[in-house]
Amino acid sequence: MTDNISGATYENILVRQEGKVGIVQINRPKALNALNGDTMREIITALELFDEDEGTGCMVLTGNEKAFAAGADIKQMAGASAISMLNSPMIGYWDRLRSIRKPVIAAVSGWCLGGGCELAMACDMIVASELARFGQPEITIGIIPGAGGTQRLTRTVGKALAMEMILNNRHLTAAEAQHFGLVNQVVPVERYLAQAIRLAAEIAERAPVAIRLAKEAVNKAFETSLAEGMFIERRLFTMLFSTEDQKEGMAAFIEKRAPEWRGE
Ligand code: CAA
Repeated sequence: MTDNISGATYENILVRQEGKVGIVQINRPKALNALNGDTMREIITALELFDEDEGTGCMVLTGNEKAFAAGADIKQMAGASAISMLNSPMIGYWDRLRSIRKPVIAAVSGWCLGGGCELAMACDMIVASELARFGQPEITIGIIPGAGGTQRLTRTVGKALAMEMILNNRHLTAAEAQHFGLVNQVVPVERYLAQAIRLAAEIAERAPVAIRLAKEAVNKAFETSLAEGMFIERRLFTMLFSTEDQKEGMAAFIEKRAPEWRGE
């Protein structure tokens, strides 16, 4: 499939644009969207191209109703050695997702397991269908999560539940995932993708520079001490007073009109 925006060709994903929202759909339904190297490379390439595209303000990453992604591709990994895993770009793709500057919303239905759960957690928000099931089942195949599961899940749901999920393959329903703060919204399966796109479209209409810095600042809360995070926040906050959009946003408030963002 050829992406109209970039001309890139993909085998394992579908890419489209709705207004200012770039949509990337993982498309290996027969393998429950298992993430092999080619699929991960295509997902990250498409998201990076949207990140560079001036007409895109926010992205949605999704799968299908039955599976967001049932994990890294076990058939591809089964024969790997420690050295081949070390030399593979595979795990680095999850890090590249974290480097994307515009917000990425995961629209999740069905299985969201292992590397799939780690992919959703590396996004900025998750909109789930009632059919979504989250888990880190790596222990059942003799390994542990390798793309952030032990870290991101623990920081989100806490040690007790993360231990149960990672040590004993406890799955979370969509309602449980929302209760424990993993998921933003749970909606009926007919509406989860439309709802994620709607949320993304709303965010895409907001002041673009402030959106990027806000994402950066919130993500820093996972990586720094409170004092360091506060320092970073203050710097980014101050920097926004050099933008046209800050002047426009505050003038629009005072003049009781809608702001017109220029992204500068
Ligand atoms: N890798 C490769 N193929 C997979 C897969 C995976 N992670 N998950 C499912 N598939 C394939 C199956 O092999 C099967 O293919 P065939 O028809 O060719 O046999 C097809 O998808 C359908 O799967 P099932 O028949 O198993 O479907 P089910 O409804 O009976 O079970 C399931 C669904 C519980 C999700 C089950 O497929 C399953 O347990 N999948 C593996 C989940 C897993 O262990 N994920 C972690 C992977 S390791 C990882 O992700 C490491 C990391 O941190 C980066």
